[in-house]
Amino acid sequence: MSATDTIAVTTTILPADAPGLAAAAAVFARGGLVAFPTETVYGLGADAADAAAIARLYQAKGRPAFNPLIAHVADLAAARRIGRFDATAERFAAAFWPGPLTLVLPQADGCPVADLATAGLDTVAIRVPAHPVARALLAAFGGAVVAPSANISGHVSPTTAAHVAADLAGRIDLILDGGPVEVGVESTIVGCFGEPTLLRPGGVPSEAIEAVLGRPLARPAAAEAHASEQPLAPGMLASHYAPRATVRLDASAVAPGEAVLAFGPVTLPGASDAAAILNLSPSGDPAEAATHLFGYLRSLDASGARSIAVMPIPHDGLGEAINDRLRRAAAPR
Ligand code: TXA
Ligand code: MG
Repeated sequence: MSATDTIAVTTTILPADAPGLAAAAAVFARGGLVAFPTETVYGLGADAADAAAIARLYQAKGRPAFNPLIAHVADLAAARRIGRFDATAERFAAAFWPGPLTLVLPQADGCPVADLATAGLDTVAIRVPAHPVARALLAAFGGAVVAPSANISGHVSPTTAAHVAADLAGRIDLILDGGPVEVGVESTIVGCFGEPTLLRPGGVPSEAIEAVLGRPLARPAAAEAHASEQPLAPGMLASHYAPRATVRLDASAVAPGEAVLAFGPVTLPGASDAAAILNLSPSGDPAEAATHLFGYLRSLDASGARSIAVMPIPHDGLGEAINDRLRRAAAPR
């Protein structure tokens, strides 16, 4: 029996109101695990300073411990106690926090985040989320909260409390239900330890960050970003966000029995015989598509189709993050 099979916890689901927030802060204080909404996806939180709680978090997710976590804090003052901001990091924080941007910075002296959460790196990932429930929870708890997406490692990220429960019921203490999230893809991750580098496209379009920077972000070579040995953003392994079905990108036709993840007007040959069709955005809006991406992948997977044909999606705005996640979902595994 593997270690993860021995977890048996009663999972409570509460609305994200004042009593729910107080209960969640109390769970953090005693070393427990709470899933909560952020504007990007639901996170699975633990007290960032509590190594035992973080060990339970890795176990609940089945996550390799070499994959470090993002520390979520209420404001820039709290972020400064964790990471060292250079002038560029200051500008990014001023422009995009609170919001779906994560900065990877050198650790500050006395950084309170447990080594287990930073996976032994001398950098740390920090984010000030914008979601009112996340903000209220961080204020109620008072400390930093490390939170990966609230899914079993390798599954698609959850955008509703029901998605969280489907993966983690019986493995975590509490789920705060704050309704569906508004962005739908994870935060953009930018490394600010040297030349500013895009480590993961996400909820802030890279064009917006580059407008603040005044030049293009560095981008790690694909081989480097996807290597399993020492990846720059270690969680960005090629096969991640994986449904059970095979994912086929840039489909120009539908094969018999395939499900279709559509974008814009559906004119694909064979679409009328598809096993199921869900349209990320009939009007072709990437932001709307992002809000539906992970939920629709889950639904099409649950339809039982063995293959999901994905229509082409433009790369601008949130399209960059959507295409990144789809490429990972389609990677061989
Ligand atoms: O939107 C989000 O970012 C969500 C919500 C819950 O905040 N969180 C999230 O966490 O997506 P997670 O654990 O699924 O992805 C965090 C990514 C991983 O790829 C991890 O390797 C990378 O951040 N990361 C964390 N610390 C890092 C560091 N010091 N250097 C490089 N990459 C780091
Ligand atoms: Mg994740």
